[in-house]
Amino acid sequence: MIMGYIIAIDGPAGAGKSTVARNLAKRLKFTYIDSGAMYRAFTFKIIENNINIEDKENLVHSLRNTDIKFQNGRVYLDNNDVTEKIRSREVDMLVSKVSSIPEIREIMVDIQKRMVINENIVMDGRDIGTVVFPDANLKIFLTASIEERARRRTKENRSKGINDKYEDVLLEIKKRDEADSNRDISPLRVANDAITIDTTNKNVEEIVNEIIFLMGEI
Ligand code: DC
Repeated sequence: MIMGYIIAIDGPAGAGKSTVARNLAKRLKFTYIDSGAMYRAFTFKIIENNINIEDKENLVHSLRNTDIKFQNGRVYLDNNDVTEKIRSREVDMLVSKVSSIPEIREIMVDIQKRMVINENIVMDGRDIGTVVFPDANLKIFLTASIEERARRRTKENRSKGINDKYEDVLLEIKKRDEADSNRDISPLRVANDAITIDTTNKNVEEIVNEIIFLMGEI
């Protein structure tokens, strides 16, 4: 298998992973893969098809027959554009549960590994540097204070016409952090050789520049 240069970006919700990863990939002309969007797309499929989340056999069968693609910044589920649909409140509420199912993670990691053959990529998620690509060329762990992350998520929601209260968003992020960090399989944790960047008081360009600088250092 021929591997390109792999940059893994992990961190909690709202740390700025997808914005940083997307901009970094653009600057480097690398392919960007949003692994969270893959869990979201499959969660959307479960909701649409009324699949019982307790029915592991059906879930596995369904994921094995699912096609997820990224094209020109859009996310396609079985050839349908679901870019906006996977950001819904319903998906938000169920995705932590779906992504904590070991059988699902195993298949998803497999799909992710196959996506990068022959490509230089930036992939963001929770377990990219620890589980999906333990041999990634560069591993970045992004963090930000929980208040800042809740502020960003509230702002992002407002721009989509969702007017949640800051306090509710804060609570939801706390819950999701806990679920993502305490699950048995691939919990969110910092890889030993990852470099942590606190994004609280930094803009996207500063962070992207920092990562590009780090590529030359290691
Ligand atoms: O980054 P996000 O909010 O789009 O991720 C959606 C959910 O998927 C989140 O609850 C954590 C989970 N996830 C995961 O378990 N592993 C990944 N590599 C990416 C996301």
